[in-house]
Amino acid sequence: MSNGTARIPVTVAEVLEVNELIKRFRFVRTGGGHLPTFSGGSHVVVEMNDQGTRRLNPYSLMSDPADTSSYTISVRRDDMGRGGSLFMHRQVTPGMQMQIGPPVNLFPLDLRGRKHLMIAGGIGITPFMAMTAQLDARGERFELHYAARSRALGAYMDFLETRYGDRVHLYVDEEGQAIDLAGLLSRQPIGTHLYVCGPKPMLNWVLSTARKMGWPDGAVHSEEFLGAPVGKRFQVELAAAKKTITVEGNQSLLEAIEAAGVEAPYLCRGGACGQCETDVLHCDGHIEHNDHWLTAEQKASGTKIMTCVSRFEGKRLVVDR
Ligand code: FES
Repeated sequence: MSNGTARIPVTVAEVLEVNELIKRFRFVRTGGGHLPTFSGGSHVVVEMNDQGTRRLNPYSLMSDPADTSSYTISVRRDDMGRGGSLFMHRQVTPGMQMQIGPPVNLFPLDLRGRKHLMIAGGIGITPFMAMTAQLDARGERFELHYAARSRALGAYMDFLETRYGDRVHLYVDEEGQAIDLAGLLSRQPIGTHLYVCGPKPMLNWVLSTARKMGWPDGAVHSEEFLGAPVGKRFQVELAAAKKTITVEGNQSLLEAIEAAGVEAPYLCRGGACGQCETDVLHCDGHIEHNDHWLTAEQKASGTKIMTCVSRFEGKRLVVDR
């Protein structure tokens, strides 16, 4: 479990502009040596000091897991976000010293699968860059279907096509190309595992189609990190720490708790893993949940909050932290 303390000092070895929205960053261990081993689907949390605000944003590792001499991530700029991606795009340059958390895998390959069918949308390609390298090195059977708005925005399309040939299928929205999902899912051999990563509408479409077609839950894997949304400033009472904190509009509750010097658990920082789940002791107002961890009943009950992505509007919120 991450609690904000485990850190690896790294140096930015390379920054590359992949396209108008995406930059790629390569990190090496400061002082030399290898970085911890990881498997395809892992992410790391990158720490940023953004004008006095400490941000910890998760990014999928996209480099080959067989090579731990460096880590590579890609960051899509989000002009409407809280500032983490803008910090990476505007402030991070080669030679800069940074800190990252150790790799965590919430989206691992199930290597019992007889075939691995991967579906990516946009920047959701990044975990598959590492997963395809891992599967290729093991001689496993896989197929990657990758959709992007335009060819220019399809980061890594050319690389993947060159490297994996007909195991890669590309779809460019503005050229009218679309995945024949029902056809694709219906012609997979028994024992195939399905993986999907991309924007929420794509995720919902793939998961609901697979469910309707009778794919077993255990053979379907997905990942979507939600960025903590911006919103109105609000106050929260931390009962155990006996502190009242203010969560700024461009800050997550988790970031505000950390800024107050209170230790709080996390893994994904994106509403997906459940690690930051916290009991609500008193709520006079409305919790904007934003996560996809709590059940609809838990959300309606107002007794739990995921500190990494949820916000509050109302008179008083007291949490067990
Ligand atoms: S840290 Fe994963 S859900 Fe909040």
